[in-house]
Amino acid sequence: MTRTPLIAGNWKMHKTVDQAEQFVQGLLPRVSTADGVDVALCVPFTALAAMVDSTRGSRVEVYAQNMHWAEQGAYTGEVSAAMLVELDVHGVVLGHSERREHFGETDRALAVKVPAALASGLKVILCVGETEGERERGDTQRKLRYQIQEGLERVPTEQLGEIVIAYEPIWAIGTGLVATVEQAQDAVAFCRALVADRSSEQAERTRILYGGSMKPDNAAELLAEPDVDGGLIGGASLDPETFSAIVSAAA
Ligand code: PGA
Repeated sequence: MTRTPLIAGNWKMHKTVDQAEQFVQGLLPRVSTADGVDVALCVPFTALAAMVDSTRGSRVEVYAQNMHWAEQGAYTGEVSAAMLVELDVHGVVLGHSERREHFGETDRALAVKVPAALASGLKVILCVGETEGERERGDTQRKLRYQIQEGLERVPTEQLGEIVIAYEPIWAIGTGLVATVEQAQDAVAFCRALVADRSSEQAERTRILYGGSMKPDNAAELLAEPDVDGGLIGGASLDPETFSAIVSAAA
């Protein structure tokens, strides 16, 4: 089974609409000929509509960085799946470690958000990963098992393969520390085995990304690992040149 690699940029809380437009003008000509790779940008809510417009007809898909699980209601400051779908947004990143750490995102909430997004037709990138302390204590697999089992608990088995999982060791995010290729491959293969506990057929379809200080100079070796199906890129996704270099490494 061949899985098309996905390179997704996560802008976090960066770029006004004006800055986002400038980025896209720089990016589109650089990725227009990159074959055999899917490209996504996860952008702030305020830039979603403009980015959907500016990338229409290109290979670049646009994702939000969070979503509420309810259809609507008294949830001040939140955004629903229907609100994203109305803008023609393609998907949503859920459970990023920064949302878990700073905004109290829980596995319980993700167990509801993930199927709500899917049911609305949004693609999902579900983020998982261990802290430095958890790795040192030998708790990496236990953390990943918990996060993946809960996050996917209410996803119908036949839809498991539609979910993209991003394995992001928290100690590698924004630190310049990158996992070794062996660490990345081992953890990503473990994530796949967890999906295979539900369905081995779906696990073969599931794309699993590595994230954490992926840059143009380390992308090729990480992406060469058999289970690493792409990357979720923070810092290096803010500049069209470095981001497109990673897209080329995956193409
Ligand atoms: P980084 O961020 O590439 O800057 O380490 C990755 C992420 O948070 O998704």
